[in-house]
Amino acid sequence: MSQAANIQTELAGRRIVLGLTGGVACYKAAALCRALTGAGAAVRVVMTDAACQFITPVTMQALSGHPVFTSPWDARPDDGMAHIHISRDADAIVVAPASADFIARLAQGRASDLLSLLCLARPAERVPLLLAPAMNREMWAHPATQRNLRQTVDDGAHVLSVAYGAQACGEIGAGRMLEADQLLEEVIAFFAPKSLLGQRVLITAGPTFEAIDPVRGLSNRSSGKMGFALARAAREAGAQVTLIAGPVALPTPALVERIDVQSALDMRAAVLAHVDAASVFIATAAVADWRPTQYAAHKIKKDGSDQPPALALAENPDILAEVARSPRARAGQLYCVGFAAESGDLLANAQAKRERKGVPLLVGNLGPETFGRDDNVLLLVDEHGATELPRASKRQLAQQLVTDIARRVAGVVA
Ligand code: C5P
Repeated sequence: MSQAANIQTELAGRRIVLGLTGGVACYKAAALCRALTGAGAAVRVVMTDAACQFITPVTMQALSGHPVFTSPWDARPDDGMAHIHISRDADAIVVAPASADFIARLAQGRASDLLSLLCLARPAERVPLLLAPAMNREMWAHPATQRNLRQTVDDGAHVLSVAYGAQACGEIGAGRMLEADQLLEEVIAFFAPKSLLGQRVLITAGPTFEAIDPVRGLSNRSSGKMGFALARAAREAGAQVTLIAGPVALPTPALVERIDVQSALDMRAAVLAHVDAASVFIATAAVADWRPTQYAAHKIKKDGSDQPPALALAENPDILAEVARSPRARAGQLYCVGFAAESGDLLANAQAKRERKGVPLLVGNLGPETFGRDDNVLLLVDEHGATELPRASKRQLAQQLVTDIARRVAGVVA
């Protein structure tokens, strides 16, 4: 299945009220509306008067496929109570952009416009409120705004982070609204079951690069996609995630701490520096088996002798096996998961590798067929036998694997 096909189902059946308040970031709300409906959500849009100065309700009607509400005096509902009906069957209200003024109104429990009115009138225990702030950096940093934000959090709102960067006003700082795809990720994460809440997950991903000289090196074809998908899924499941990544060109999943490394020795050092704080270690990295014994400080030149340089290689340390042998792993305080990319006889190779590495769970896949692809088939091998996770996107497989690991960590037999 392609990743695009998978994305369409991520919010299937969810009903979302998308609120827009006054800010230049309203243009991003149009893309967000599209992203939400594209992910399968049914979206109803509510806009404040100020939002209508930045983008028209017609645009949002076209994108959501439903009429937009802007006024508490809207005569369309039979009983005139738009503020009640809109929120009653919603799974969440997402206010994006949430202006400083709107946040101040929420903090005071005001109800002077339809959006603040319906936020106040929502059944808070079953209709969560997500705020995506958007404002100038000075407004963001102002103690009044920060005080109001804390108040909205105390009152049950879920405040999303802001981005740092160039602002519409020409200044540079914190306060930009997240991009539409990031907001979509946040909404999906919000709904994910929190099966790894309280866990600290350390993940290695991607290839390593073993430098020969300043321009050449030994590496492999690992794209890092599986490890990055696992980092995202683990964070969505409530874990605190640290991702140690070899050289890959993938964006960092939201709220994941990323440490970039090059060589296997760098990766080992980063793992050892972070593993004591972890309760789960997932080694998806395709660590190079060998590294050149010598690094040439300058580019090795052809000398016309027709004699290629002899490369002496040394074996790299096995990071996973080393961590799995550590006292915390042996005492059951650190759950270790390994991966194996094989080119055939998956079951036997994965079983042997599980024993050799000393890990409770080893995830096998057929290497050359999966490198760089968005989908895969996984074979989960533990002491009892093997279970297949059939072909699906790496995103879906990561979600399934995280659920499986959470069960194992909790001591529930998978
Ligand atoms: O031995 P092999 O490379 O096939 O083992 C794969 C598993 O071991 C993966 O989980 C990989 O991340 C881990 N590994 C490691 N350090 C190495 C080699 C592999 O952590 N030097």
